[in-house]
Amino acid sequence: MITTTANLELFLETRKLTEQICEPLETEDFVVQPVEFVSPPKWHLGHTTWFFEEFILKKHQENYQIFDEQFAYVFNSYYESVGEKVVRTNRGNLSRPTVNRIYEYRKYVTEALVEFLNENEISQELEEVLEIGIHHEKQHQELLLTDIKYILGNNPLLPAYLKSFDENRIEKHSHQWLSIEKGVYEIGKPEDGEFCYDNEKGRHKVYVNEFFISNKLVTNAEYLEFMNAGGYQDVLLWHAEAWDWISSEEIKAPQYWHLIDGSWYQYTLSGLKVLDPDAPLAHISYYEAFAFAQWKDMRLPTEAEWEIAQEKFDWGQRWEWTESAYSPYPNYKKPEGALGEYNGKFMVNQKVLRGGSVATSPKHTRCTYRNFFHPNLRWQFTGIRLAK
Ligand SMILES: [Fe+2]
Repeated sequence: MITTTANLELFLETRKLTEQICEPLETEDFVVQPVEFVSPPKWHLGHTTWFFEEFILKKHQENYQIFDEQFAYVFNSYYESVGEKVVRTNRGNLSRPTVNRIYEYRKYVTEALVEFLNENEISQELEEVLEIGIHHEKQHQELLLTDIKYILGNNPLLPAYLKSFDENRIEKHSHQWLSIEKGVYEIGKPEDGEFCYDNEKGRHKVYVNEFFISNKLVTNAEYLEFMNAGGYQDVLLWHAEAWDWISSEEIKAPQYWHLIDGSWYQYTLSGLKVLDPDAPLAHISYYEAFAFAQWKDMRLPTEAEWEIAQEKFDWGQRWEWTESAYSPYPNYKKPEGALGEYNGKFMVNQKVLRGGSVATSPKHTRCTYRNFFHPNLRWQFTGIRLAK
């Protein structure tokens, strides 16, 4: 168990980083919501704050004065058991509260929480809620970056977010197939006192057959070969619902790729760049990852295979699609109360992604971390590691 002092420091550095992420933005960038799954940056700023107010201060700080009674309605995300909330698609229609007012809200709650932690001996249970709040904000830091990318990358002016942001770190080592022996292995988070989410708990045994996994992520050049070979036109490579998706959405390339005068460009957080063939592929859906693997006559690893093999390769640049459905581990226990809504209720119709990305907040991910998204979504830094 981390001590409160460590958590207090982690809390403060996390609160600060969220605001640093927003520093390059202009006021107008904070407000828009181009599609349902993207939230306006100002909403992230308020929502991560609301979490601490709702789950810690309101319940545990005596005589706590709520900053604004109306904010719970605006900044609750999906906690049905906590009360009414604004419809997700309407997050971008709110010119009020203003960005300034939300920054005041952040300051107010941060200070109140520091005071509360300094003046009270808190229970282990509450310490865990604090840790969830911190990691919840870290998750939103990544969403902030990917939502900002979506907002700016779908603006016809294609403005850069931050010239120095490097999202394409090239893996320089040569390609190798790593071999893993068949056998019984253990996966899931060991009970070592380190923070983790409920969905990783319940370490358990799994059997895997012998398999091979790539020591490198698929590159843009490799994916271009698939495109040039007619990958998007070959129905036999795709799931039925994937084929409907590429047809109805007219998908012909990864997100943020632009064909200009016969050359491929990529919109990145540092602006529009000539596509780097050696960079790890990003922004593809599970559907595309699967079709690419089919074309290579290979497959995606399962999440158990990924976790068993991960010590042998570098990871953390791209969220890696796995072949595993996001479902509960054998001993999964949903926490009681509203925080039980954090993970459990999403365990249907989504795929697990492993690793982390260039946008993942520091001290957030780990080798047992189970990220999950619907198979058609690709605005996160998603990529492919092949197995066979
Ligand atoms: Fe959230």
